[in-house]
Amino acid sequence: MKILALSGDGIGPEVTREALRVLHAADKRFGLGLSYSEALIGGAAIDVHGVPLPESTLTAAREADAVLLGAVGGPRWDGIERSLRPERGLLAIRAALGLFANLRPAILYPQLAAASALKPEVVSGLDILIVRELTGGIYFGEPRGIRVRADGEREGFNTDVYSESEIRRIGRVAFEAARKRGKRLCSVDKANVLEVTVLWREVMDALAPSYPDVELSHMYVDNAAMQLVRAPRQFDVVVTGNLFGDILSDAAAMLTGSIGMLPSASLDEKGKGLYEPVHGSAPDIAGQGKANPLAAILSAAMLLRYSGGMGEAATAIEQAVGRVLDAGLRTGDIHTAGTRLADTSTMGEAVCAALT
Ligand code: IPM
Ligand code: MG
Repeated sequence: MKILALSGDGIGPEVTREALRVLHAADKRFGLGLSYSEALIGGAAIDVHGVPLPESTLTAAREADAVLLGAVGGPRWDGIERSLRPERGLLAIRAALGLFANLRPAILYPQLAAASALKPEVVSGLDILIVRELTGGIYFGEPRGIRVRADGEREGFNTDVYSESEIRRIGRVAFEAARKRGKRLCSVDKANVLEVTVLWREVMDALAPSYPDVELSHMYVDNAAMQLVRAPRQFDVVVTGNLFGDILSDAAAMLTGSIGMLPSASLDEKGKGLYEPVHGSAPDIAGQGKANPLAAILSAAMLLRYSGGMGEAATAIEQAVGRVLDAGLRTGDIHTAGTRLADTSTMGEAVCAALT
């Protein structure tokens, strides 16, 4: 399997380095036959090529079997024109590769219950999967822009649009995922206000009879945000559009103690994917060895499972992460009384050791 590493900006390179080390260790133990290449994305690509997603990077991504991404963006590129910002590179690669299905698991490792902002009894045993539509909705809808009205005032506008087929294909991914888990699917919308989500709800309802073993429910997004922090264990799989999924997955991340723990997979219709930690580039701690590499490492595990069909190696990595937490090692974001503070590479090394 050919893996393309796009480490990007900020803490991206630090955490990707640890994820690659863990992949090497997994390859050594299981004989996976992995090969690697690297390319630039985000600010790192802007500095060299002047654009956040160079053609050469896109070609490399198309040739690879899977992409492992770090993070993009940082204050250094904030002054750049909007269409050339680092984040555009990420959005462009998602669109160009057709990565419409974004899987964001939020799992609470029992060792981290004390690190969650919520009471341990509210979050213990938490295991949610957020399925976010990633290539449609208001993120990509046209028309969009900032224009000057006849009266001289400027106005900004975007379009939230979903076709039936776009809703159906993300719905199928979510139903299939629910089928393999707790068999409960909650579709999140704003059907009391937005027509685009009235259609969303209709299409989800129409899919339900094909999955009689899965219980489908609907929830408005404002209520879902509240329920996530009130009683998060009521959720099994959540399916929602691009913008709501962006917001709810950050909220769900914090339930698990730290966004530094959360991996994600973005898949196309054939299961080819891009894997990235949910946390961003965290420029404030970049280059200091403070970043938590576990989200990147767990993203590498998802890569083996979803794009490589290497479930055994993926599970071994996840178990190794559990063992490192058992041993009391913590980066700053998950550090609590009685545990041992570790830097980024110590954490990665420990996962490799636990794996072999
Ligand atoms: C995410 C991020 C991105 C998004 C940004 C960096 C464009 O927040 O992956 O959740 O909004 O999708
Ligand atoms: Mg986000």
